[in-house]
Amino acid sequence: MSDKIRALIVDDVAATRENIKKLMEFHPEIEAVGQAGTGEEAIALAKALRPDVILMDINMPGMDGIEATERLSLEVPDAAVIIMSVQGEQEYLRRAMMAGAKNYLTKPFTGDELIHAAKDAYNRERKVREALRAKTADKKQGKIICIFSGKGGAGKTTLAVNLAVALAGRPLTKVALVDADIQFGDVSLALNVPARSTLADVVAEKENPDDEVLSPYMAIYSDQLHILAAPARPEQAESITGKLVGAVLKQLRQSYDLVLVDTASAFNEATIAALDAADSVLLVAGLELPAVKNTKLALEIMQSLGYDDEKIMLVLNRATPEGGIEAGEVETTLKRRFVAAIPTDARTVASSINQGLPFVLSHPATAVARQMQSLAGLVAPPEMVAAEAETKNPRRFKLFGR
Ligand SMILES: Nc1ncnc2c1ncn2[C@@H]1O[C@H](COP(=O)(O)OP(=O)(O)OP(=O)(O)O)[C@@H](O)[C@H]1O
Ligand SMILES: [Mg+2]
Repeated sequence: MSDKIRALIVDDVAATRENIKKLMEFHPEIEAVGQAGTGEEAIALAKALRPDVILMDINMPGMDGIEATERLSLEVPDAAVIIMSVQGEQEYLRRAMMAGAKNYLTKPFTGDELIHAAKDAYNRERKVREALRAKTADKKQGKIICIFSGKGGAGKTTLAVNLAVALAGRPLTKVALVDADIQFGDVSLALNVPARSTLADVVAEKENPDDEVLSPYMAIYSDQLHILAAPARPEQAESITGKLVGAVLKQLRQSYDLVLVDTASAFNEATIAALDAADSVLLVAGLELPAVKNTKLALEIMQSLGYDDEKIMLVLNRATPEGGIEAGEVETTLKRRFVAAIPTDARTVASSINQGLPFVLSHPATAVARQMQSLAGLVAPPEMVAAEAETKNPRRFKLFGR
């Protein structure tokens, strides 16, 4: 790679351009890659040649050096403009610097002055570029948490909306809630946010949203909680591939601290993509026999998918024993412990769903809301927990009724 600074010379006087080019010939650090006689020509050449620096005469007929500099700073921002003026053009010079020029030279100048100005402008420009690159490389990697259950109706959506609201209530935490129950998703109903667009619109718009910003598709619940809804009609789900779901989640984690995903209780393409992309899976279990059986099956399938044990967090919902099965027995059968137990509270849960207001907001003092808040503390990334100054955060929950 050549270390020479590549310069474009812009001046309406051909003789001046030639003189500057000659000056450069004595200095191996810099080379003239092109010459332009007008502002328009300078912009076209800069786009084609991508020079490191542009030596720009301030005073040219037609588009002057200031206007050309202004346009170049937008259209070819990587090229550092050095303005050339004669004595007594101070005000003009000030405007050129405001327009984006990185340095200036007063005519006539020596070769050393030229090199000095060019190196200075080039180095400053490169620093800005490197800082920008470092910033984009250092993209945020939010945590993806997928909420799943082996059996339908286990309480996934109840958990998803309440956790989302609880987590978005924490300081400095941006949360995205994605409804990946692509046929019968009801997240937007449970939160009472009309979804203007859904996952189906993302498909219609772009096959691969990798480099697309998804924000226009997100419904705004609050500053800190945005929602990507499921399609309004089941038949629209057909177009949503696992690949799309995975790509959307990976894209969202770059803009949000937490991405919560509600799913359907089926190992379909969308669910598997969400489970794969997740850092943690909250597997929602219950105390009824069919629920226990399906939870066991789900655990086996996730093991066969190669998920680490730590990735799966078993959560007991409707934890108040009614039909004789105790939480401890379920833990024995599943050979796993529950990380949380959300009590049964049909009144609070049903009324909150019908109001479209999660119970952690509408009934914060109930046991069901408090247990949900504790679960939120458990899935929050460590830095958020620290920010909370919340110390009473046991690794494992006391089970209800024990
Ligand atoms: N802790 C609880 N106590 C009482 N009722 C609950 C509790 N959790 C959920 N429910 C009720 O159970 C029903 C199913 O809950 P929810 O819709 O959250 O489950 P789901 O797993 O998302 O279901 P689906 O598989 O259909 O998506 C709802 O009517 C809800 O009100
Ligand atoms: Mg649901």
